[in-house]
Amino acid sequence: MEQPGDRKAKRRTVEPADDRRRPKISPVKNGPLLYQALDPSGVEGLISSRGELLGRGRDSVSLCRCGASATKPYCDGAHLRIGFDSTNTCDGSLDHRLDHVGERITIHYNHGACAHLRHCVTGLPEVFDHDRRPWIDPDAAPVEEIIAVIERCPSGALSYSVAGEEHRDLERPPRVVVVKDGPYCLEGGVEVEDTIRSERVSGEHCTLCRCGAAENKPFCDGSHRKVGFRDES
Ligand code: FES
Repeated sequence: MEQPGDRKAKRRTVEPADDRRRPKISPVKNGPLLYQALDPSGVEGLISSRGELLGRGRDSVSLCRCGASATKPYCDGAHLRIGFDSTNTCDGSLDHRLDHVGERITIHYNHGACAHLRHCVTGLPEVFDHDRRPWIDPDAAPVEEIIAVIERCPSGALSYSVAGEEHRDLERPPRVVVVKDGPYCLEGGVEVEDTIRSERVSGEHCTLCRCGAAENKPFCDGSHRKVGFRDES
């Protein structure tokens, strides 16, 4: 099945900014994520974890982020019943980017933005190994293989520089993908209103919590694994 980041996309350096009209997600305080279309044809690019197109023709959809809705990925008001609190309780201590400098590539990593979906450690374990210090070895695989894995990082925590040029973003149409037992993956610069991204991470893609347990709300921080979140919508 296609995963977020699998589609062929053009690489983009950090400049210039993209000024297309983009759909946006507005996190509602103690409530759902409101996904609003800017295109008159309605919401597009909302994909279920089974690859189905959702929400077509609607101006907006309310997406569950408390983890308790019976109609996931849509909100059914369960946040009121469970007293969902959307406060970000993160102290920000992990929000800084580290540079792992290799001979031909520098890998940038911001732990504070990571959703721990493990595409890197499973995709290229010789480079990304949590049992080693430092855990990233930028010289342990060919550059193109490293780039391919970094481009599958859905949270934007990983990026890279080659020959002095930094690459954080990809050139992709906007879409929101529901991940089985995990977050929403945003691609293509879907705007997240009233939020501050982690230090020097991608502005084109990120992951939003839908289990309700993240400390770094509205972003996913991997807590869905700790709480055993299960959903296949
Ligand atoms: S979905 Fe990842 S922390 Fe909630």
